[in-house]
Amino acid sequence: QTTALAAGSIGKDGYRHYMEKELHEHPLVIGQTLQRMVDPASRRVMLPEMPFDLASVPRAVITACGSAFYAGMIGRYWLEDIARLPVDIDVASEMRYRNPPLTAGSLGLLISQSGETADTLAALRSLREKAVHILSVLNVEHSTMARESDVVLGTVAGPEISVASTKAFTAQLTVLACLTIATARARGTLDALGEEELVSALLDLPSRAAEVFTQGEAVRRMAQVVAEARDVLYLGRGSMFPVAMEGALKLKEITYIHAEAYAAGEMKHGPISLIDRTVPIVASAPYTPLFDKTLSNLQEAKARGGRLLVFTDTKGAERVSAIAEDMVVLPHVHDFVAPILQTIPVQMLAYEVAVLKGTDVDQPRNLAKSVTVE
Ligand code: AGP
Repeated sequence: QTTALAAGSIGKDGYRHYMEKELHEHPLVIGQTLQRMVDPASRRVMLPEMPFDLASVPRAVITACGSAFYAGMIGRYWLEDIARLPVDIDVASEMRYRNPPLTAGSLGLLISQSGETADTLAALRSLREKAVHILSVLNVEHSTMARESDVVLGTVAGPEISVASTKAFTAQLTVLACLTIATARARGTLDALGEEELVSALLDLPSRAAEVFTQGEAVRRMAQVVAEARDVLYLGRGSMFPVAMEGALKLKEITYIHAEAYAAGEMKHGPISLIDRTVPIVASAPYTPLFDKTLSNLQEAKARGGRLLVFTDTKGAERVSAIAEDMVVLPHVHDFVAPILQTIPVQMLAYEVAVLKGTDVDQPRNLAKSVTVE
């Protein structure tokens, strides 16, 4: 069973690059995806009928490549925390050879923009052999993975032309958030009030996402610093760790600057020795329950001469401003949706650095939009 996907325009619509245009489509695709998944009258998540019962799934195995994998990592935090569902996750190029022991009736959760990525497709097929239900989160409706899945949840992102994925990522997160709510309801870990709170946070997102673009000037200021660097360290904790990974991947992909993402608390186990004035630290630190912990990690980095460029929100701004060299302040949103919002400026930063460096933003060297060979 497949949900239909929305069409989008395929021109640049006056933007300099497809990536710039697609970044500006974040609010739209989040909104369109929610329209597909949330019933406006009851404000409840409504997924298409599934050929299995989410309540009786013993475990989920999430697998994907690149950015789609980072979306899956955020999905894991949500499914474990909110739906209390045990989750295993790995990149598809590893998962396809891992042979994890799985109880029949487990859930294989595959995520892919194109639905054609060779490793993700191979992982799907190896999970299928273990009598696992296959649920895929896909942007391309008529793809090989769509045909081979038991159920497809469509991301309503429209065509994504830029090799660097942007809007498909936030659309994937939106779908995973809705899947989490539906799973939690089925498993009895979320009551009606809890669902109302999380759905309200999601429905608020398109307008909060539109506000992110008022921060363009601050992002461009940060880009001036990053463009001069040879190495950049990205930090985040909890669901902000995959956001940091997404930021580092995007920077590497389109600017050719070396970037590493670390879980902020892991920094003192090695990478802290890298820190000096020449290695800027880009941190995602909105005001969530892990804000204090993240801030203390950033203080450690600052004490060693690190230059801190921090993405935060209106509630965290005052304390961040005391230690950061520069910051981007986003609207404060519910913890649940914070990783979706915080992704937008880290992607914008990579874009602005690429523009400064004059690289081929939409078609970076050595990369293809869809990796259909192993
Ligand atoms: C992201 O910017 C990349 N271009 C890449 O990591 C991509 O997300 C990955 O190849 C997965 O592609 P898919 O979503 O089409 O499966």
